[in-house]
Amino acid sequence: MKIGIGNDHSAVEMKKNISVYLKELGHEVINYGTDSSESCNYPVYGEKVAAAVQDGEVDCGVLICGTGVGISLAANKVRGIRAVVCSEPCSARLSKEHNNTNILAFGARIVGIEMAKMIVDAWLEAEFQGGRHADRVNMVMDIENRKGNAIE
Ligand code: RB5
Repeated sequence: MKIGIGNDHSAVEMKKNISVYLKELGHEVINYGTDSSESCNYPVYGEKVAAAVQDGEVDCGVLICGTGVGISLAANKVRGIRAVVCSEPCSARLSKEHNNTNILAFGARIVGIEMAKMIVDAWLEAEFQGGRHADRVNMVMDIENRKGNAIE
């Protein structure tokens, strides 16, 4: 798979380690994040990876900031994006099986590298189950087209 990865200053080392891991698993990794430890703004990187997923430039995305919260919030503002922030593998797996998430986020200040790898494994190995879950995911995505959210 082609995976877009993004991060802010708090997650440079984690991003590098996870990129190596993803490549070892056979994935192509495109880096949209910062490689500098200088303070920067997570929304920039959340939006970049989300836009790459939206455009089909990559198949899915991985986002890392201090907590994973800010960068996933930013990504979720991009139409068509379903980003989940996880601190353990069970939610990561279920977020794919039930919610068809297309971006995984986690926090470099929250999880260690071994937990991060388990979260990534669970998410990448899981498959969307469709059926009743598809109806619910469609309901979530329909919110983007409601009055006030629709593109005029
Ligand atoms: C940066 O200090 C920190 O706020 C950011 O990485 C992230 O945790 C925000 O949600």
